Amino acid sequence: MKILVTGGAGFIGSAVVRLAVARGHEVVNLDALTYAANLANVADVSASNLYSFVQADIRDRAALDAVFAQHAPDVVMHLAAESHVDRSIDGPADFIETNITGTFNMLEAARSHWLVRGKPAGFRFHHISTDEVFGSLGAEGQFTETTSYDPRSPYSASKAASDHLVRAWHETYGLPVVMTNCSNNYGPYHFPEKLIPVVILNALAGKPLPIYGNGANVRDWLYVEDHADALLLVAEKGALGRSYNIGGENERSNLELVKTLCAILDEKRPKAQGSYADQIAFVTDRPGHDARYAIDPSRIREELGWRPSVTVEEGLARTVQWYLDNEAWWRPLQDQGSVGQRLGTKA
Ligand SMILES: NC(=O)c1ccc[n+]([C@@H]2O[C@H](COP(=O)([O-])OP(=O)(O)OC[C@H]3O[C@@H](n4cnc5c(N)ncnc54)[C@H](O)[C@@H]3O)[C@@H](O)[C@H]2O)c1
Repeated sequence: MKILVTGGAGFIGSAVVRLAVARGHEVVNLDALTYAANLANVADVSASNLYSFVQADIRDRAALDAVFAQHAPDVVMHLAAESHVDRSIDGPADFIETNITGTFNMLEAARSHWLVRGKPAGFRFHHISTDEVFGSLGAEGQFTETTSYDPRSPYSASKAASDHLVRAWHETYGLPVVMTNCSNNYGPYHFPEKLIPVVILNALAGKPLPIYGNGANVRDWLYVEDHADALLLVAEKGALGRSYNIGGENERSNLELVKTLCAILDEKRPKAQGSYADQIAFVTDRPGHDARYAIDPSRIREELGWRPSVTVEEGLARTVQWYLDNEAWWRPLQDQGSVGQRLGTKA
């Protein structure tokens, strides 16, 4: 199968690229190389003759048409997006342009390619989205595929809009689409502005471990390689027009998660004195911070037989080990202006 992956130099996209090539698929990685991208994330596969890279921006429709004409993919896996909630609070414009207009361009370029090629039977457009489109849960309940959309940040609103466009292109034009909404991912190659890498790297540097508010916000964590596995499964076997929620059924409050990371670090790289948990510092909460996300993954489990391969404890231990072993990857990123700055306070 020849897959066009957008955003394949980012965190999740690169996990998809690495896994797809390992499974013998041909991959074209289309990425604009924003601050969140890093071609080192795909260094393991860049020499493979199954892999090619195109630097292009999904806001540029003509560039997309050229990529479709040149590469004629069987499947599109659309991950390119602006993805950081705090950045969306300080500067929502890029989120509107990339996540909404960019997805519109991708749909139109894919539709035109699909029509020109005579609607090939196996063609699929797989749109990758987030559970944040469903809003915020109270203490009980889980998001299912039929939960009403209720996005509350500029990021989640832009992703919700893109999901609606993808559904509309299926219903209106018959474009063969599949959709997924996933919970919070963690794992290797996670850009050091997101909670888990921030905590690991600040801990090692002896800096405070910032926890928004009182740390009670709950997220449902999934190891990125398990997400990539689920995405390839949906791309190949998902029913057309159907959406699948993907989650690890690993709910943790931010405070519990940070304490677990500290305990793993205490074991793997003990401090001279005390625990890394002593560095925990509570900071002003994010405006509109969603209280709880939890995914009900029964549809993908029952219809496609998917299950995560690692528990959250195992996945976090692997992740910590990866950051300990890969300083050459993260050290240069820490010198980027915005890393280590508090974002998302301009509401
Ligand atoms: N990180 C999560 O926990 C999570 C959970 C569920 C869903 N998602 C979704 O998965 C996708 C990937 O998330 P991620 O965490 O890997 O994001 P990321 O920020 O790490 O990577 C995004 C990639 O998209 C590229 N990109 C951004 N704007 C572009 C543009 N205009 N044209 C072309 N490329 C562009 C960037 O260069 C980067 O390589 C996103 O659509 C996100 O909404 C993420």
